[in-house]
Amino acid sequence: LPSRLVDDHGRSINYLRLSITDRCNFRCKYCRGGPETPLIPHADVLRYEEMLDLITVVSELGVRKVRLTGGEPLLRRNLPWFLGAIRERTAGLESPLDVRITTNGSRLAAMAGDLARLGVQWVNVSLDSLNPQTFHEITGVDCLGDVRRGIDACLQHGIRIKVNAVAMAGVSEAELPGFIDFAKATGSEVRFIEFMPMGENSQWSEANYLPSRLLLDQARELVSLTALDRKDTGGGPAKVFRIDDGPARLGFISPMSSHFCGSCNRLRITSDGRLRTCLFSDKEYRLRPALRHPALGPATVKHIIEMAQRGKPLGYEILQARQMQQSVARKQMSAIGG
Ligand code: GTP
Ligand code: 5AD
Ligand code: SF4
Repeated sequence: LPSRLVDDHGRSINYLRLSITDRCNFRCKYCRGGPETPLIPHADVLRYEEMLDLITVVSELGVRKVRLTGGEPLLRRNLPWFLGAIRERTAGLESPLDVRITTNGSRLAAMAGDLARLGVQWVNVSLDSLNPQTFHEITGVDCLGDVRRGIDACLQHGIRIKVNAVAMAGVSEAELPGFIDFAKATGSEVRFIEFMPMGENSQWSEANYLPSRLLLDQARELVSLTALDRKDTGGGPAKVFRIDDGPARLGFISPMSSHFCGSCNRLRITSDGRLRTCLFSDKEYRLRPALRHPALGPATVKHIIEMAQRGKPLGYEILQARQMQQSVARKQMSAIGG
């Protein structure tokens, strides 16, 4: 079934990133490195029932993939219940909804069995360093072992993983060989994400920005890389390479150096029910009032989403307007969900 959400640039929207909490137990320097985006008051956080209504609405509009994000999504209570409820709600769709999670991995070991049982087949783990000390310095928490155990638990339960590492000059060059070994040992994909100037407190600077190109050149000296077609890698923002003709993959998400806005297929909803049509645009559409209003509800929410998505901007135009001098979005990543 073709998506019914098409924007003014002809882009079909079929992928929802739903932040289920803005709370996080990490303080990654590039995300929560300074004065913080205020936390969302509990009363404003959508209840699971309200999120289920949202998922129903967007699936009626053609969304086929939902990624649960945070903050740290595994911190939200009763997540297994929510995952089960999503399955029940969307059981009538002709193709099942593809539900995935992006997590920092710290609580993953205990959850992997539940996730597998509830149909989650893919988990993306944010992991910037395989060195315990560097990991601690970046995240503020000394728990690389927990994350490694979480990844192992996923693999044991048949969940496929992708690792997301934020590329940072002076850090990632040294991490690259270890991540290539990791990808080969686990047969999985490691993606480097270009550091984006997000949030008022962004630690972004020319000095710690590392364009994908440099890591790619470095990787090519270590292994042989074969570029995969975007349509064979899910059509997402990552440019993905096969490593040494094996199953392992190396990917690059390059929003700064070579944007992918023209093929963007996603919408975002924050945990307090604000629709963001673009990661880089601070313009948000409040869905919560309609969702909670006894006389409005899902039909109105659907209408707002349709109207808003039509005007989805081209994020790189926003980025260019800022000339990389200031943060591209006011909110930090943990308040949006990445
Ligand atoms: P897959 O479904 O596995 O392809 O995942 P994904 O890349 O869509 O999601 P993931 O949460 O792993 O995203 C990795 C990171 O890439 C995000 O957290 C962002 O930092 C960045 N990213 C993802 N989508 C966008 C986007 O639309 N614009 C920009 N600028 N960055 C994005
Ligand atoms: N630039 C790039 N990626 C970021 N993330 C958080 N902040 C930034 C930033 N400023 C990444 C996290 C995680 C995802 C949700 O977003 O590492 O993988
Ligand atoms: Fe780190 Fe993600 Fe938590 Fe931000 S939300 S501090 S990037 S783990």
